[in-house]
Parts: sequence; structure tokens; C-alpha cells
Amino acid sequence: MSATPKNLVILGSTGSIGESALRVVASLPGRFRVIGLAAEKNVERLLEQARVFAVEHVAVADPQAAQRAQRLAPSGLKILAGPTGLEQLATLPEADIVLVAVVGLAGLGAVLAALRQGKDVALATKEVLVAAGSKVMQESRLSGARILPVDSEHSAIFQCLAGQQEGQVRRLILTASGGPFAHNPRINLDKVTVAEALKHPRWNMGRKVTVDSATMMNKGLEIIEAHWLFGVPLDRIEVLLHPESIVHSLIEFYDGNILAQLSVSDMRFAIQLALTWPERLDSGLPQLDLARLGALHFAAPDETRFPGLALARAAARAGGTMPVILNAANEVAVQEFLNGALSFSGIWRTVEQVMLRHTALADPDLPDILAADRWARAEAASLIKE
Ligand SMILES: NC(=O)c1ccc[n+]([C@@H]2O[C@H](COP(=O)([O-])OP(=O)(O)OC[C@H]3O[C@@H](n4cnc5c(N)ncnc54)[C@H](OP(=O)(O)O)[C@@H]3O)[C@@H](O)[C@H]2O)c1
Repeated sequence: MSATPKNLVILGSTGSIGESALRVVASLPGRFRVIGLAAEKNVERLLEQARVFAVEHVAVADPQAAQRAQRLAPSGLKILAGPTGLEQLATLPEADIVLVAVVGLAGLGAVLAALRQGKDVALATKEVLVAAGSKVMQESRLSGARILPVDSEHSAIFQCLAGQQEGQVRRLILTASGGPFAHNPRINLDKVTVAEALKHPRWNMGRKVTVDSATMMNKGLEIIEAHWLFGVPLDRIEVLLHPESIVHSLIEFYDGNILAQLSVSDMRFAIQLALTWPERLDSGLPQLDLARLGALHFAAPDETRFPGLALARAAARAGGTMPVILNAANEVAVQEFLNGALSFSGIWRTVEQVMLRHTALADPDLPDILAADRWARAEAASLIKE
């Protein structure tokens, strides 16, 4: 018996996760109907995807790019323009599941809107949970819509926790590849170039998350993401370096037993599982050959050399608007590093300085979160200019 296809919306379809998601869809014929796609400005690729997957709605966040899309689009394809286009797509009445894979806080409104309308969200965009975890989890609880993790570490923990009774977990252990620099203490982090930071040893990802991975701020953001997704206190979430990126994360129970999830390092595993959960389907993804791998390695991270982890923990402990500040300052600093206007180590120095200038507002609502985000972006930009 063939399953009814799920109606799928992909926000960020022209990015690394979005493209992988479309490969997953193509590898499972009849399982999904792609009804909406969104990007910021890569109109040509977006329209090509819409043609291949016979999509009826696309959203283009950048207003000028949206005008270009209007000119180039075939008749019958509906173009939604500007930032609200993401929310309109995410709440299309026929949508069953929304994959959110845009960079940064741009996806927040769409995540909240989709959950409010009871639509499951497959979430790659960790920044949304970092900045507004309490609000996002609250919407999910109220409507009963699920948040299905796409980050490979959180997918691993989600899988390990499935079917377990509550209150049994002592620690979550997030693995980290360590990026290009964690395994070589001789590298001077003040002198790292953009090209070096973008050369990730294991994963082929978008530029922002690749730099986050190199600074290990990515793992800091993931600690906060795991805290919200799984309701585990921060002091029971640990990080373990694992250069092969085969063990995607582990959970330890109070009785000392540990469960881990392993696969080849390919984001399609986590994306497919989020989209088909609780079903597990054979789509021909590469099988893991442990005998050929032979050995797996683990080490403690050097948190002094990579202060992103401590900064993220400090932001999460301060709570309220402080994680918003961490995230926004980091987004600006990473962009300025990519633009050649800031050193690599300047990324976490900027984040730290902006956090020091902020007094966290407790229990922020959405306007407070957006105001804190704007403030931190302006503050980070002016610090970098100085
Ligand atoms: N890549 C991975 O393997 C990976 C793994 C785990 C988690 N994640 C998370 O997944 C998210 C996406 O990462 P990625 O590596 O796929 O990024 P990416 O390759 O840079 O792609 C980003 C996508 O988002 C779109 N976009 C950017 N800003 C937007 C805006 N304001 N409005 C609408 N669309 C916007 C981009 O459109 P344009 O193409 O038009 O710019 C593109 O489609 C990030 O939060 C990242 O941390 C990624």
C-alpha cells in the first residue's frame, strides 16, 4: 500500500540543507509533494527547483530579487515577496511539514507561525531555538505540532531518547568534529584566513555554519538548542571532540549505560528522518562500514582556546535576552570575518564585548527578542567599525 504524500514546504531550499532535502525528496518518489520553496536572493536556482519539483508557491525574501523572480517566473507560479513571504509559505493550509533551513533568525516568524497552525517543523536553523527557545517550545506544546531536529547531533539524541521513560538521562553528550583547527594546537587563531576557516574536514555546509564550526560557537549554539529541545539542564550537556563525525551524539542514563547513534557523515540521514519520522525508509543512503574505518577517536575540547563554548553556556545561564545577544553578535561578527573586516579570534571577542554591554531582560516576549536582536547587531557592527 503506498503512503499518502506529505505536503512539504522548504525554507532555504537553495542552501546546503535545502539542496540535500530536495535530494531526499527525489530519492523517495511518491512520499512528498513539495508545495513551497523559499530563498533569500538566488532566484535562478529557486525557479529551477520550482520547475523540477512542480512547485506552486515560492517566496523570495530580498525585495529586489523578488522583483526579478516576478519577471522570470513562468505563469502559474505564485511569488511571495519580502520577509513575510516565509510565514505565508509556512502556513499554507495544505502544508503538513515545514523544513526550516534558512540562516539565522530570519526563520523565527515562520517557525512560530507554522507551529501555531499545528504544522510539524523539521528544524535545521538552530539560531531560532537559541534566541527564542522558550517561545518556540511553548507554541509546540500548545498546538501539539512537533519539532523534528535536523541538526545531526540533535537527531542523534532524539533517536536515542525515543521510547525511553522520562527522567532517566544523566547527561547528553554532543559530539563535535572540532572543525579545521581544534586538533592542531599550534595554529595561531588570530591569523586564520577566511579560506582556511571555510575548509571543513568533514562536512560540506553553508558558509556561516562552517565558520561557526571552526570557532566552535556552533557547538555552543547546539548546547542551547539541546537544552530547549530535550528539556535537559545546561550542566548536564557536555561536548566531546570526535574528528571522524561518525558518532553523532550520545546519551548517558543514570545506570551508566550509554546509547549512541552512528552513520556516515551526510546530512541526508538526519533530514530524511525528520521528514519521514517515525518511519525509516530505504532511500539508498551510503552504509557505514565500521570494519573499514577501524578506529574512532574522542577527546575533550580545549575550552580556553575556543571560548565560544563558555560564552554560549554563560549566555544560556544568564537567560532572558542574553542568548539573543550571543546569536546576533555572532551572526554579525561571522559576516564581518567573511567580509575580511574582522580577524577570526575577533569573532568571539566581539560576541563577548556585546554580551558584557547587555543586561538580560527576563522572560522576553517576541518584540523584546527582536529588539534585543536589533540592538546587538548594531552594537556588534559599531564595535567592529571601531
Ligand atoms: N549545512 C549543514 O550541514 C547544516 C547542518 C546542521 C545545521 N545547519 C543549520 O541549517 C541552517 C542552514 O544552513 P545551510 O548550511 O544550509 O546554509 P546555506 O547553505 O547558507 O543556505 C541558507 C539558505 O537560506 C536562505 N536564506 C538566507 N537568508 C534568508 C532570509 N533572510 N530569508 C529567506 N531565506 C534566506 C538562502 O537563500 P539564498 O541562496 O538566496 O541566499 C539559502 O537558501 C543554519 O541555521 C545552520 O546552522 C546546517
